[in-house]
Amino acid sequence: MPQPTIAVLGGTGHHGRGIAQRLARAGAAVVVGSRDPARAAAAVEGWTGDVRGASYGDAIAASAVVILAVPFDSLAALLDEHASRFAPQTLVLDVSVPLAFGGGTVTLANVPEGSAAEHVKARVPPHVRVGATFKTVPAALLSEVDRPLDCDEFVCGDSAEARTDAAAIVERVQGLRAIDIGPLSRARALEYLTLVAVAINRRQKIHDARFRIVGL
Ligand SMILES: NC(=O)c1ccc[n+]([C@@H]2O[C@H](COP(=O)([O-])OP(=O)(O)OC[C@H]3O[C@@H](n4cnc5c(N)ncnc54)[C@H](OP(=O)(O)O)[C@@H]3O)[C@@H](O)[C@H]2O)c1
Repeated sequence: MPQPTIAVLGGTGHHGRGIAQRLARAGAAVVVGSRDPARAAAAVEGWTGDVRGASYGDAIAASAVVILAVPFDSLAALLDEHASRFAPQTLVLDVSVPLAFGGGTVTLANVPEGSAAEHVKARVPPHVRVGATFKTVPAALLSEVDRPLDCDEFVCGDSAEARTDAAAIVERVQGLRAIDIGPLSRARALEYLTLVAVAINRRQKIHDARFRIVGL
């Protein structure tokens, strides 16, 4: 895939901000999408690289890769409203983890489609490719853009080509090694893995637990 423009919807937030900033620093053309384009424009002020703010719809229309970095509960409405803006062959990357808090513990919410990524797949046009990644790398570390990541980031997707292209996006971020784990249905395993990272963070009183696979 030639170097694509990358939209980060929710790039104003905790997780998306770090992804967008690190991709822009790596030389990618990045569009931060927001419900409020003025908020997006303010968020990117002072960032390094080719980065601008836009509405969700305009960010989608301008980009060959669209990273969905918004809360899981907001995905359905966002995609229902903006589905017509995706160009054919757009690569949509779901990063969401449907965490559920209650009773002093964190669990994964049930998702009827199987995983958050399959929830996305069910709501985008058929000409759009879907992958899942950036689910396990911690937002707290991503957003400290000068701190090295030095970890692996898993990728799954609805075709081999989608996974290859998603892995290339991941590896534009310095310090991330992409690991292809296969079909989109494996996204649920990644969502559980994030739950493991959250549990490690809580028990060890840290914010940056992440994964490295040995033996590769
Ligand atoms: N935090 C982590 O460590 C982490 C790790 C892995 C994955 N994730 C996933 O990354 C995604 C973003 O997490 P976050 O912690 O960055 O969340 P966040 O800061 O609460 O939200 C991110 C952005 O989403 C937009 N947003 C918020 N509520 C919305 C709504 N109801 N409808 C549409 N847009 C809305 C906002 O952008 P505008 O107001 O500019 O529109 C906000 O800046 C989530 O799906 C999360 O599961 C997070």
